[in-house]
Amino acid sequence: MSEVSSLKREVFTSKFGVIAAAAGSAVGLGNIWKFPYITGVYGGAAFLFVYLGFIVLIGLPVMLSEFIIGRKSGSNIFGAYKSLAPNSPWKLVGLLGLAAAGMILAFYGVVAGWSIDYVVKACSGSFMEKNPTELSLMFTNFIQAPFTPVIYQLLFMILTMAIVGVGIKDGIEKYAKILMPLLVVLIIVLDIRAITLDGAGEGLKFLFHPDFSKLTAEGVLSALGHAFFSLSLGMGTLVTYGAYIDSSNNLAKTAVQVTVADTLIAILAGVAIFPAVFAFGIEPSSGPGLVFITLPNVFQQMPGGFFFSILFFLLLTVAALTSSISILEVVVAYFKEELKIQRKLATIISTVIISIIGIFCSLSMGILEEHKLFDLNFFDLLDWVSANMLLPLGGLFISLFVGWYLGKDKVKEELSKGSVVVKYLLSVFIFLIRYVAPVAIAIVFLNGIGIINFA
Ligand code: PFF
Repeated sequence: MSEVSSLKREVFTSKFGVIAAAAGSAVGLGNIWKFPYITGVYGGAAFLFVYLGFIVLIGLPVMLSEFIIGRKSGSNIFGAYKSLAPNSPWKLVGLLGLAAAGMILAFYGVVAGWSIDYVVKACSGSFMEKNPTELSLMFTNFIQAPFTPVIYQLLFMILTMAIVGVGIKDGIEKYAKILMPLLVVLIIVLDIRAITLDGAGEGLKFLFHPDFSKLTAEGVLSALGHAFFSLSLGMGTLVTYGAYIDSSNNLAKTAVQVTVADTLIAILAGVAIFPAVFAFGIEPSSGPGLVFITLPNVFQQMPGGFFFSILFFLLLTVAALTSSISILEVVVAYFKEELKIQRKLATIISTVIISIIGIFCSLSMGILEEHKLFDLNFFDLLDWVSANMLLPLGGLFISLFVGWYLGKDKVKEELSKGSVVVKYLLSVFIFLIRYVAPVAIAIVFLNGIGIINFA
């Protein structure tokens, strides 16, 4: 059997499986670790509102576009452009996506490693009876250490590799289906505890009552970058998954469901965190440690906190895993289909390369802290460049490709599979993807990096 026909058989086996895998990719550290901390850094509700605007006007149409490219081509991110736009430079957009995937997974693995360490800390009761200052110190000391965080990062990367090595149906789909719903339930439990803390109101106000004077150009760019990061867009993850979705699936409906789920979970995470931040007198802008410092305080204040803390960090690790496998899959699918390297070997090679880059990210929190570029350590640099530059640029190209290169007829043809296309919704989609998304991305991007200056 040829390589291509055996690839074609690798599809998600049920509609719920598709949603669970795509939502599993979208929901991860981005929602629970990154969203609260950057919302804190960029001033709260105003950032949230801009973020929500970008989700609807740009994120959702780009997600649908990625699914369209993926299912139409049935290929990896590079092969997709090669087959839909033969003999053109479009395939370079695929390479941009591969670079973004490598960079993101490198630092993502580090934070996921922190989460594993916190499972261990939770099991040994390490956060019980510590005040916010001690918890903050515990976090900083841990991430600055040279060995332990690297060991957990590597452990996480090995887990990712093991699942991706097994393939789509037995690996990715199976895990995503069971564990995602459990995570949602647990976050809701945490929300209830957080909003009933004394002084919770301030936190809710911070999250939902906007003060637009706090917005900066960089904050707006970060909101855009995070919309892409959180929805797993701009580098071909959902193109890659789109290739595994069969033609009976309604792509538009799937895109809406994934977007709504991802956004709700980010907001629920914010509701668990900000009331507690204010109730315990933690600085909302305290950065990457926010979740790791705030939630242990919450666990101390709830019956069964010991048990819930273990469960939470375990599920956070799993949420990270269902995302990291989707990132690694972008690279593996490329190696496998374009370079004809067998899945297992492709998985090992890409994991090793990305893990080595990740080790430097981890060390840049401690012993390599002094080495900075543009005032950012290596970890922050990879995060910033990938989320705020590569993903929006990738999103820009994806929208131009679907809106202008493929065009309305081909889009309609793909969307008609598995559903009846509603004419006016199709027109809205085409309008958003042709004009709104590319223009908005270009403006926010140029403004954010200071090339033009609106505000
Ligand atoms: N969306 C994931 C999260 O929010 O944690 C991270 C991610 C996955 C980013 C896949 C980009 C990507 F392509």
